[in-house]
Amino acid sequence: MSRENIVLIGFMGSGKSSVGRMIAAKLDQRFVDTDHLIVQKNGVEISEIFKNQGESYFRDQERLALESLQDADRCVIATGGGIVSRPENIPLLHELGFVVWLTAEEEVIFERVSRNTKRPLLQTANPRETISGLLALRNPLYAAAAQFTLDTSNFPHAGIAETIIGEAALFFEAERKK
Ligand code: S3P
Repeated sequence: MSRENIVLIGFMGSGKSSVGRMIAAKLDQRFVDTDHLIVQKNGVEISEIFKNQGESYFRDQERLALESLQDADRCVIATGGGIVSRPENIPLLHELGFVVWLTAEEEVIFERVSRNTKRPLLQTANPRETISGLLALRNPLYAAAAQFTLDTSNFPHAGIAETIIGEAALFFEAERKK
């Protein structure tokens, strides 16, 4: 039987961390962020990893971070936006629990991510275009992996957290009956 974690996937700036923290606080569960696990393990920021070891190394680290969570249960897990780019990660996500895709309109994503410079993939001449291109590539991958999808563009994160908690309870109940 799959474990009862709530797993958040979605593009950079879709609200995974802030919504995830809220869900964890409301459920009194541990919040885990795969980016944070990677930073902890490597002892340097994500941007440094991209710069020094490259994206492929980072994706390997992302996979290892997911594997390290295979005993986690009743946690809220936020993942990096590119987690779906490696097909072998999808079954790992499903083994963890209920996979929720947080979406946001492109404009909203752009506004949210332009507030910080920590995301190496967006340090390009035209971040707007980069976002468009990545969204086009990744949206079908998120859609295929997700068991529930929610748009965070126009709703307060607290309401989104509540909705996910309700949906997760239904999902886990159905899983237990299987
Ligand atoms: C990435 C998203 C980032 C981080 C890294 C790569 C991506 O995480 O994993 O910069 O490929 O979309 P967030 O989605 O939490 O920003």
